[in-house]
Amino acid sequence: MEQRIKGCSVLRGEVSPPGDKSISHRAVILNSIAQGRARLENFSPGDDCFSTVACLRQLGVEIIEESGGVLTVSGLEGLKEPRDVLNAGNSATTMRLLAGLLAAQPFLSIITGDESLRSRPMGRLIHPLRLMGAQIWGRGGDSLAPLAIKGNQLQGIEYRLPVASAQLKSAILIAALFAQGKTIVEEPAPSRDHTERLLRAMGAKVEGDGTRIILIPGPAPLRPIDLRIPGDISSAAFWLVAGAIHPNAKIKVKDTGINPTRRGIIEVLLDMGAKLSIERERIEGGEPVADLTIESSDLVGRQIGGSIIPTLIDEIPLIAVAGSLARGTTIIRDAAELRVKETDRIRATVRELSRLGADIEELPDGMIVHGVRMLKGGECSSHLDHRLAMTLGIAALIAQGETVIHDAEVVAMSYPAFWHDLERLTGQQNLKERG
Ligand code: S3P
Repeated sequence: MEQRIKGCSVLRGEVSPPGDKSISHRAVILNSIAQGRARLENFSPGDDCFSTVACLRQLGVEIIEESGGVLTVSGLEGLKEPRDVLNAGNSATTMRLLAGLLAAQPFLSIITGDESLRSRPMGRLIHPLRLMGAQIWGRGGDSLAPLAIKGNQLQGIEYRLPVASAQLKSAILIAALFAQGKTIVEEPAPSRDHTERLLRAMGAKVEGDGTRIILIPGPAPLRPIDLRIPGDISSAAFWLVAGAIHPNAKIKVKDTGINPTRRGIIEVLLDMGAKLSIERERIEGGEPVADLTIESSDLVGRQIGGSIIPTLIDEIPLIAVAGSLARGTTIIRDAAELRVKETDRIRATVRELSRLGADIEELPDGMIVHGVRMLKGGECSSHLDHRLAMTLGIAALIAQGETVIHDAEVVAMSYPAFWHDLERLTGQQNLKERG
């Protein structure tokens, strides 16, 4: 499907981003192995989280979807051997977190994914799980999916992650729940901590600080937990950047998670001079939540790198859009991980924003973005990457003329209502869908 978008004269209103994708994956996986039933409200409507749901159903878990984003999950003491190959679709979180779980189950599983997921690195997952005693193999000399996993009794390990990756950390922690002895995971910088928060709330013994996490497996199973899942800050970020760069904007983004390990985009926008306010701060389901209001802002370019990167890793293409509209230069470093996301997000962002008139250079681990203060409509592609499709949609709102985005339907991976919300906030029928 292609999406045609014209620059809009005003951007106003309220929006509630979809339920957080990372928390939704974790909530449904961990409740599947808890003893009892849990009710999850505001579960992410994206295809990625429903890939996790489909895999868990194949493992015998009863998950009932009610209207209005509510799921009920009936935890199982023993998962069942799947009768067919599990399919994680486009979702690396599904594949990596479930691999940690499957490594400890007494049966054989095979898990695959779409073409993009089958090209993403899995050696970094296989290595620590094998150190725990897992029998796990992958294509390409144990570096790629599909993965074959024959469950085994695992041992706790002490392991330093080669990259700050919440998916890797979480896979090890989930495997560690079933291991003999404690597991210690160290990260080079803090990545999102939703797994640790949820495990603690469900009764697991998880200790440690930002970069060193200790899990001591207990004899008791996890307690199920009812949750209202906060809005996804990675989805909210599209409206925060749109509001900041548009000359006539005021947007309220409601009920958004502002976990310190996820809110790098807020820090960067504030540092760039954004008129961004944080209201009604509260804790919901063990996670900090707030309403965010953004207004048209005069942004300045900044240097972004180091330990803030994992806290905004998915928002970097959007920061490149903000940098294009800012005064001065924005430099993004230490973000080589972007090259192994749904697509090579450094290369794809540079290529597609250049088509819209951005002055942007590729670095091995980031980008240099010269503020051109204006973009022009053009023809571009999502590279089948949901976040890139939405980033280009936001750039199109301030571009002169019409922008055509090919393969725009991929937004469904994380934010199926994105084009609808965009149309609503622009207050005009400036979208045309084809194909
Ligand atoms: C995620 C972690 C991040 C992020 C991804 C979701 C998660 O990847 O890019 O979209 O839910 O754990 P890392 O494994 O690089 O942290």
